[in-house]
Amino acid sequence: MGRPHVVMLSIPGQGHINPMLELAQILHSRGFFITFVTRAQRESILRSQGPDALRRDSRISDTRQSDGCSVARFADPESHVVRWCLMTYENCAAPFKDLLVRLNSLRGGAEGHLRRVALDVAEELSIRSFVFMTMSACGFICSLYLDEVIRRDDNNLTMDTPIDFIPGLKDIRPRDLPSFVRTADQEDFIFKLAQNAAKKSVGAKNLLLNTFDLLEDEVLNALKSKFQKVYTVGPLASHNTTTPTKPMRLSLWKEEDRGYTEWLNQQRPSSVIYVNFGSIITITTEELVEFAWGLANSNHPFLWVIRHDLVCGRSAVLPKDFLDKTKERSYILSWCSQDEVISHKSIGGFLSHCGWNSTLESINSGVPMICWPRFDDQNMNARYVCKEWGFGIEIDEDVKRGQVTSKVKELMEGEKGDEIRKNVVYWRERAKKAATQGGSSYENINELIEDINLV
Ligand code: UDX
Repeated sequence: MGRPHVVMLSIPGQGHINPMLELAQILHSRGFFITFVTRAQRESILRSQGPDALRRDSRISDTRQSDGCSVARFADPESHVVRWCLMTYENCAAPFKDLLVRLNSLRGGAEGHLRRVALDVAEELSIRSFVFMTMSACGFICSLYLDEVIRRDDNNLTMDTPIDFIPGLKDIRPRDLPSFVRTADQEDFIFKLAQNAAKKSVGAKNLLLNTFDLLEDEVLNALKSKFQKVYTVGPLASHNTTTPTKPMRLSLWKEEDRGYTEWLNQQRPSSVIYVNFGSIITITTEELVEFAWGLANSNHPFLWVIRHDLVCGRSAVLPKDFLDKTKERSYILSWCSQDEVISHKSIGGFLSHCGWNSTLESINSGVPMICWPRFDDQNMNARYVCKEWGFGIEIDEDVKRGQVTSKVKELMEGEKGDEIRKNVVYWRERAKKAATQGGSSYENINELIEDINLV
């Protein structure tokens, strides 16, 4: 009998590909053969890493079907998400089924956001399927209560009215709900997508989450009553895989400049603010300028990643006097290896959009956060980071330079900063423990492997 074979289907977003690859790497190190399927981003992978990226590892494949979008769709979160999901949902099932039929020795399929497609195809072919939600449990649980949110929505509900009808969630308000829940339009595509997909994932029975029991215990207890099995396996990046030692990455952006490692090496320990708003959100020029002057006036060194498509509809132009004022203590670039940057000893704080991967990477590196959430589960993550887990402080949605400066100083200089730093170190140790032999996530990976092998 050959090696057990897992097919993984990931939506082509960086925040989904990364944890799926981390899981792939763990399963691969435990003897599985992996076929990793993603689609439509082949062109951007080739652009960022050259043609060898797809060739050098036979375990990475794609469905070789163009969705007709260019990478420019990332310029606008609304349009790109809608088009990206629509085209994927509409076009992916047939080539995915063909691929599965062509592959032999299937043992199980694990997949991310493409639940409807993957689960239907898997069911048709009698392949066992596992849903891997790459967002936080506290963000995900909201999608199971969309009907309730609609029922309770009335004119008396403000953005600060306490919400008590989602089990497991503590001390939350409408403003903390994921962006797809906060829409007023029930015909909204993303709203409907989340609603259908949530129903479908409950049908799938097996849910994988990149979190650990202690971090989200109450939400997880609530989720466990809705699924036959919930495997909490995170943080995936904390697991020790025997080979290879370096995490496998499939980056959708090119690192044009590696000079930052040298620059970071020259900075004092824990002195640098790292600023990165992830792979999806866009900001306005006004917001960019507020962040720029807020950072400049803090007088702390900073490393700032400004994606080419971060500023909606145009390239980012930073004021010349800002660049002159900060040139001795800043490093600005368009993309970096975040896992390397955030774990560098010079990093003292992370100004972030609170994507779930970034939040986990902060925990893994013991770096406290300044949170400026915008989209998807980011608001909920920020609420938990600041209120429940105590390793972050939040900047108002309507960002102003004065507040950026004061929050940076609070984190880097004040007593509050010391307390937050202690809390993140507390969570880093708990995360490590969870992913080490005897820990909850480590043992859940063992259980997952046993369950896949049972098929
Ligand atoms: C979005 C959601 O906000 C997130 O919560 C959801 O689970 C997935 O989609 P995104 O903007 O992609 O997230 O952010 P995040 O979840 O933080 O993922 C980004 C990934 O790209 C991280 O693993 C990060 O390390 C990596 N990255 C980002 C880089 O390697 N370099 C960069 O310059 C920026």
